[in-house]
Amino acid sequence: MKAVVVTKFGAPDVLKFKEVPDPVISAEEVLIRVKAIGLNFADIMARLGVYPSIPKPPLIPGIEVAGIVEKKGARVRNFRPGDRVVAFTQLGGYAELAKTPARNVRKIPRAMSFGDAASLMVTSLTAYHGLCTLANVRRGEKVLIHAGGGGVGTIAIQMAKLLGLEVIATASSEQKLQLMKQLGADHVINYVRDDFERETRACTGGYGVDVVFDSVGGSIIRKGMRLLAPMGRYILFGFASVAGERTINKLKALREIIAAPLLYPPAMVTKNIGILGFNLYFLSEKEEYLRDAVDQIWKWYRSKKIVPIIGGTFSFDQIVEAHTHLQSRKSYGKIVVNVP
Ligand SMILES: NC(=O)c1ccc[n+]([C@@H]2O[C@H](COP(=O)([O-])OP(=O)(O)OC[C@H]3O[C@@H](n4cnc5c(N)ncnc54)[C@H](OP(=O)(O)O)[C@@H]3O)[C@@H](O)[C@H]2O)c1
Repeated sequence: MKAVVVTKFGAPDVLKFKEVPDPVISAEEVLIRVKAIGLNFADIMARLGVYPSIPKPPLIPGIEVAGIVEKKGARVRNFRPGDRVVAFTQLGGYAELAKTPARNVRKIPRAMSFGDAASLMVTSLTAYHGLCTLANVRRGEKVLIHAGGGGVGTIAIQMAKLLGLEVIATASSEQKLQLMKQLGADHVINYVRDDFERETRACTGGYGVDVVFDSVGGSIIRKGMRLLAPMGRYILFGFASVAGERTINKLKALREIIAAPLLYPPAMVTKNIGILGFNLYFLSEKEEYLRDAVDQIWKWYRSKKIVPIIGGTFSFDQIVEAHTHLQSRKSYGKIVVNVP
């Protein structure tokens, strides 16, 4: 089969097409003929070699695919060849065929395209897990969503409004601020140009926020933590700030890491605040979290309460361009790659 291989860690052009053997599935796995790949910032971090526990190259990246079941393992009961599905792949997704344990696979509604499925699974599970499961948000609470114009951000804004929250969303460009407003954000802030701590205080009458939803990390954590009102929850689930324009700018990355605050737990007790981290990539053994969330998300999709925002569609042979675009910070919404 044809696959995209990270030949060494580095800039987008380390991605090369190769002919590799088809994956061989175990009794618990499913083989999927890939129709659409959901591009994730995690793929950029994997290509750069800074994703936790990433193996050494050569490796096939890709953690999210939609397609058709080609084959199932002997012990798989709930899928059969021909089923339309979406799946987490824990690498190996940038290929014509991808395998994954059946517990990471979900059937997709008849009316859902492969592109929509590949744009929704990781983004909406991330938003759901962060806002509903961990932050356990209540109607009327205020949430600060960083990088609100990206793949996860555009879904998180819609979900937060659906859950009755007041949304303050940040992004780095006017185009993304406009999009976030259209999606229902109550206040939008350009956090590259303006001081988001001061702006958030101003638009909340000095209150701050109940929840910070942060995938950017680094130097912005300190300000976000200062914004937390009593009973505030800081949800940290990414560190996009360490990425450079095409590669890793080691000095900038180091500055961002050093700027993240060292936590002193007794201070969190007296301030009544908490910080929670998560990574779906390492959560696949907790199947129940994923199953319940996907059921809810598919319902919201069917009733058009959550709409996938696809900011760019690339063909498989444009994978280098797709990575360059996502890493540039110029992309909005989710990037989908179609596989012929
Ligand atoms: N923990 C998990 O389970 C999990 C799951 C999914 C995603 N994530 C994380 O959530 C974030 C969003 O993922 P995504 O796939 O939807 O990507 P995305 O939001 O479409 O793209 C990443 C965003 O990060 C922002 N950003 C800030 N500093 C950046 C930098 N130095 N370089 C590039 N971008 C920078 C950009 O928005 P602005 O230009 O507006 O700042 C950009 O739009 C990523 O950090 C990802 O790792 C975590």
